Amino acid sequence: MKPLYKGKHFITLEEWNKEEIDTLLEVSKKLKDDFLNNRPTPYLDHKTAFLMFFEQSTRTRNSMESGLAQLGGHATFLDTSTMQIAHGESPKDTAVILSSYGHGIACRICNWGIGNHYLRAMAEHATVPIMNLQCDLYHPMQGLADLMTIQEVCGDTKNLKVSIIWAYAKSHKKPISVPVTQVLLFPRYGIDVTLAYPEGYDLPEWVIEKAHENAKANGGSLTITHNMAQAYKDADIVIPKNWGSWVTNPSEQVIDNLLESYRDWKCTEAMIKLGKPKVYYMHALPADRGNEVDDAVIDGPHSIVYQEAENRLHTAKAVMAMTMGDK
Ligand code: CP
Repeated sequence: MKPLYKGKHFITLEEWNKEEIDTLLEVSKKLKDDFLNNRPTPYLDHKTAFLMFFEQSTRTRNSMESGLAQLGGHATFLDTSTMQIAHGESPKDTAVILSSYGHGIACRICNWGIGNHYLRAMAEHATVPIMNLQCDLYHPMQGLADLMTIQEVCGDTKNLKVSIIWAYAKSHKKPISVPVTQVLLFPRYGIDVTLAYPEGYDLPEWVIEKAHENAKANGGSLTITHNMAQAYKDADIVIPKNWGSWVTNPSEQVIDNLLESYRDWKCTEAMIKLGKPKVYYMHALPADRGNEVDDAVIDGPHSIVYQEAENRLHTAKAVMAMTMGDK
């Protein structure tokens, strides 16, 4: 398998055209088939990547570590609190040094107003691809796995009603990167996206403008509502998930009066019944069970969350295989 996009940074899917994303999806599907049939995939034999984490992770860390091993390479997990970053070492110096030791640098840094800038600063100086493992604005690894999963369960995505719905959660103040990625990506595949959230949980205005442009260019649409039931009504797919009020209130406080006034924004069986009979429930995980979603839904017949999480492995492998080639 040729690394077709050798050296290309994977910071946002907005910088990958449709043909490139389609190739990543095709490679993901092939790698999934190979994995499930125990066929070896040594496309990154002896290649190494560094996985820098400023925050916790289950899916992203393990899909990257296992994925690179399955491609014949090795990933080094780096807890950034134990790196010299903790003493102020710059993103430039970190990127230059790690570039000279391996073939890829991946990083999760979600701090509001900082994360994406940090990745861009590394990308400016790195000589290997920078892979975004989630920043304050984007989570492209998640978006790719979500799109793969939607294609697997629905086939043609044209004019599917996919609803991205804010949900109550108190586990932590979650980034906006998942809904931003989805609202930008899905209309490029002809999907009719409904974005539903209570007043105060707006996504940035430039995201909405770009999502409308993406929809117009590709036959999809974007509808914004503050009515939760409207989003569930006749939906093919619902993605109820919490995100913080970062745009209107960048405070890191998790629970505030605004959040508490929307406890009823929860995915229940009654809400699922408003969707199409075969409506699918998705969530990037981790879910705040009992707050974002009832167990009866996430463990029920409409849920495809484990398939969605499983696809993180195959899409991560596709991104690495296509971008991390010979130096
Ligand atoms: N969805 C996701 O990115 O999961 P982790 O935070 O566990 O990596």
